[in-house]
Amino acid sequence: MSERFEGRGGDGREDADLRLKIVGLGGVSGRKSYYPELQRKVRELEWEIEERRLAEDELRRLRAYLENVIDSMPSVLVAVDPDFNVTQWNRGAEVLTGVEEADALGRSLVSVFPELEAQLDRIGQALLDREPRFMKKVPSSSEGEGRFEDITVYPLIANGLQGAVIRIDDVTEQVRLEEMMIQSEKMLSVGGLAAGMAHEINNPLAGILQSAAVLRNRLLSSMPANEKAAVESGIDMEGLWRYLDSRKIPDMLDAIQESSERAAGIVKEMLSFARKGKDHLPCDLPSLMDRTLELAKNDYDLKKKFDFRGIEIFKDYDDDLPDVRCEPGQIQQVLLNLMKNASQAMWEAHVERPKLYLSIINRGEYVRLVVQDNGPGLSDEVARRVFEPFFTTKKVGEGTGLGLSVSYFIVVENHDGAMSLERPDGGGCRFMVDLPAGGDERV
Ligand SMILES: Nc1ncnc2c1ncn2[C@@H]1O[C@H](COP(=O)(O)OP(=O)(O)OP(=O)(O)O)[C@@H](O)[C@H]1O
Ligand SMILES: [Mg+2]
Repeated sequence: MSERFEGRGGDGREDADLRLKIVGLGGVSGRKSYYPELQRKVRELEWEIEERRLAEDELRRLRAYLENVIDSMPSVLVAVDPDFNVTQWNRGAEVLTGVEEADALGRSLVSVFPELEAQLDRIGQALLDREPRFMKKVPSSSEGEGRFEDITVYPLIANGLQGAVIRIDDVTEQVRLEEMMIQSEKMLSVGGLAAGMAHEINNPLAGILQSAAVLRNRLLSSMPANEKAAVESGIDMEGLWRYLDSRKIPDMLDAIQESSERAAGIVKEMLSFARKGKDHLPCDLPSLMDRTLELAKNDYDLKKKFDFRGIEIFKDYDDDLPDVRCEPGQIQQVLLNLMKNASQAMWEAHVERPKLYLSIINRGEYVRLVVQDNGPGLSDEVARRVFEPFFTTKKVGEGTGLGLSVSYFIVVENHDGAMSLERPDGGGCRFMVDLPAGGDERV
């Protein structure tokens, strides 16, 4: 023993003290009193360890549960500390940014989510005054164009925590729906106004047309009443005609008549905003589509840059079409407008191989008529406004901008249907007319 003590370099006194204590503990008189105490302490310790283990299990379970909740939310959720370093990054954030949680945690917000740079001031402000900040319908720069997001910043204030949680929700669909509703409200009210105006213009216009016709009769024809009035006035008709010719009066009368007829045509279109359909009949839509196509082919008008020759036609009609009640003349007018527009657009854009796709699709609740072209398509601005009355991109005399708005009214107001447009990926334009299947209660 002494050798070992010496070997460790000590004088052995410490170990001797320790041995004394141990002997004291296990001594004949001490054994009985200390042992149960020790056992109790051991049990207490075991309890404590078990409790802590259970608490840690519960904590782990809660954390996993919370992460699951955060990850299954459709929103993007990102938490940051006061220095804008990321402390939480959910699945939505991973999907939107393409950055994994492990790569985002601890990094600065701007480095992993550059689109939020513009919002840093507001996030900072929310942190400073400890008030949430709501930013509605923010145009998104991250994913293509035309998307909108709601961004909410909640400062973390409870339990001495510092930082903020940023929530981002994609509200593009909601914004589109709102825009559509506003647009259709606008179209309906402007349509009503147009119909009212048309009524007012109709009478004076009829007066102009009628007076022009009478003027022509009284000045340029050799009716007995004209001859008689000329004799009574001391002039001869031959001399009067030579004078009128030299002053080009007949040309002017022609111009009055032509312009008034054009105006009357527009007024007639405008009046259809107010016309409610009465004669809803079961319609054979494939035959209606085919007849309209024939009409469009024969109705070409070179002045209006509208020519069906050379357009390749593709048809795709479903066989099992349900009964649809409609006013065939009105639906024909809609389809003719769509076909003319398509042909005009393809002509204008000098499309090398113009194609027109006509389909009739059974969608159960409704039947969808589709007119699609491979023309130049529409810009965002034009697409937003095509159904507005008088919106046109064509020159004066080539288009009035009434075709689609009248069509919209016929479909939506008179047939309880829907009309919409899509811009196919391959280019061109696709107009869709949905007519409810099974008939119309108004019949
Ligand atoms: N198939 C299409 N391709 C490209 N642009 C189109 C197409 N259909 C419509 N448009 C655009 O929508 C606008 C509005 O069309 P709409 O039929 O209402 O009036 P319009 O054709 O200009 O005149 P109108 O039909 O009264 O002669 C057009 O001027 C055109 O710019
Ligand atoms: Mg048109």
